[in-house]
Amino acid sequence: MARPPIRVCFVCLGNICRSPTAEGVMRHLVSAMGLEERIFVDSAGTAAYHAGERADPRARTFARARGIALESRARQFQDADFARFDLVLAMDAENLSDLGALPGAADFGGRLGLARDFDPASRNGAEVPDPYYGGDHGFEHVLDLCEAACRGLIEHLRDEGHLD
Ligand code: 4NP
Repeated sequence: MARPPIRVCFVCLGNICRSPTAEGVMRHLVSAMGLEERIFVDSAGTAAYHAGERADPRARTFARARGIALESRARQFQDADFARFDLVLAMDAENLSDLGALPGAADFGGRLGLARDFDPASRNGAEVPDPYYGGDHGFEHVLDLCEAACRGLIEHLRDEGHLD
């Protein structure tokens, strides 16, 4: 019988720049590897102030240039999301701290951590910096960091036997 997929939710502050990029990069890799039945991908923000919006036009433009479509609509992470995911991966330490303060975090049976924990080239505690108030370079950088983290995450899941 087919096993249920591993469910991954990337989380940033607004859910319009970093986590939609991570979601889109992960979907792109998952699709290229034929793993759609094994890995379910979503994203959310710790804040609600962009809820319902598409990803930032700059994030979409730079992702599209790499052949990656960002199609999510922003939503706020809900406490009930802890029951819906196996991995909740924050973009920075503040997002992680905000997630950890939610009631559901205490008995979350999955893994709550930083997305870059899965990038073998990153140092401990490495973050995906917020590009919102900066220039175009920041969005390219986010794409690079998300790609390294997502590749590492897929390798990790493969090593752990979740993709067999
Ligand atoms: P994100 O970026 O957390 O990567 O989606 C931000 C988006 C919006 C704001 C801050 C960060 N904002 O302050 O509106």
